[in-house]
Amino acid sequence: MEKFIINGGKILSGKVKISGAKNSTLKLMAASILADGKTTLRNVPGIEDVNTMVDVLRTLGTSVKVDTKNKVIEIDPKGIDCYEAPYELVRKMRASILVAGPLLSKFGEVRVAVPGGCNIGSRQIDLHLKGFEEMGAKYFVEHGYINCHIKRDKNGTGLSGNIINLDFPSRGATENIIMAACLASGETIINNAAREPEISDLTSFLNSMGAEIQGSGTDHIVINGVANLNGTDYEVMPDSIEAGTFMTVAGLCGDKIEIENARWKNLEVFYLKLKEIGVNISIIDENNIRIDRSQKAYKPVNISTLPFPGFPTDLQPIITVLLTITPGISIVTENVFENRFMYVDELNRMGANIKIDGHRAVIKGVGKLSGAPVRSFDLRAGAAMVLAGLAAEGSTEVSDINHIRRGYEDFEEKLRGIGADIRKIN
Ligand code: EPZ
Repeated sequence: MEKFIINGGKILSGKVKISGAKNSTLKLMAASILADGKTTLRNVPGIEDVNTMVDVLRTLGTSVKVDTKNKVIEIDPKGIDCYEAPYELVRKMRASILVAGPLLSKFGEVRVAVPGGCNIGSRQIDLHLKGFEEMGAKYFVEHGYINCHIKRDKNGTGLSGNIINLDFPSRGATENIIMAACLASGETIINNAAREPEISDLTSFLNSMGAEIQGSGTDHIVINGVANLNGTDYEVMPDSIEAGTFMTVAGLCGDKIEIENARWKNLEVFYLKLKEIGVNISIIDENNIRIDRSQKAYKPVNISTLPFPGFPTDLQPIITVLLTITPGISIVTENVFENRFMYVDELNRMGANIKIDGHRAVIKGVGKLSGAPVRSFDLRAGAAMVLAGLAAEGSTEVSDINHIRRGYEDFEEKLRGIGADIRKIN
């Protein structure tokens, strides 16, 4: 298995450009199923999860052209003749279930493998299915697959609009229900909807196809079903989690670092928390920021992860690395996933002093971390191990980096570009 070898302690300087957002791209690719024509997506990140979603779309019969060099994907759903997302792809990437809403809305049926849990939690999809049921669909689970369908009347109408109250502002459920509602008959209202910027990217994309969606970015989204949607040409938003990751790299071991396409307002709570710690961030404009080495000692902080606009759970492992070398006691509470501290044992092997108490990590800052062989348990935990290696004294070997490849484009190249000593070995 591929590994990263990192010689830590280097002071980093230079410019980093943020790529397109993984957690928007995957949904736009699924949503392209809804169009009667071809869709072109631009600023698509070159990451493993995008390759998996290409495989899912091709399995359905969609034709997909990938221009890696120019970060462009062309999707033509005309040839769809299969409505099944197979286990081997869903197991690889649970976001494959996001083809369910579009297939149900356009073809009236979908068969998708029940996505297993993952290292950070059980990852239920009950809210997705409840939304589909409330729009008239029926489903049953058999042999590890969810079979969902809607009886269509003589003029082909399938799903019907309804008022859907989400028990939790689930991003995936919000996205799947929005996509299902686009071609449903009548109006659908989603209350307690997720509000992440990626949801707004999806609704802007769908509206550019001819959908009629209002309220994205709020917890009350209204979708007026239309008869059909057209292909479109759309540029994916920058990746907020990658931006937050590189902002933390700069806070850990940066001297002068400029981050292009940070779109910092999309992660404002995170940005403000870094400033509260004492990271020396200055805003260049709405897209770009710079971080200079801070002359003052960092201060401990308390963090609670919450759905947007709260502190993003995906940056919880990332900021925890910074807190391991911040003098004093910091407390990080994980409220979104039930098991997102598995990486802490690996940080403690590098000399960190973190104690887990249920959903809470109590972090006592230490002078420095020391390099060690560590494992990546999931995408963001793997990135956190790399950041710890950059800050640590000596050499760190990060294994299972396939997790990291799922969501960070050219991660080691971008880090080397600002002076990090990181290389990949097999
Ligand atoms: C998205 O996952 C992201 N993935 C995750 O990013 C992110 O951590 C998560 O949102 C929270 O922000 C993608 O966008 C591809 P949820 P998603 O539905 O949609 C529970 C990364 O590193 N829940 O908001 O699956 C669920 O169990 C990944 O890029 C139900 O109980 O998140 C979880 O505890 C990791 N029933 C919580 O809600 C449901 O039907 C958040 O889930 C759905 C969710």
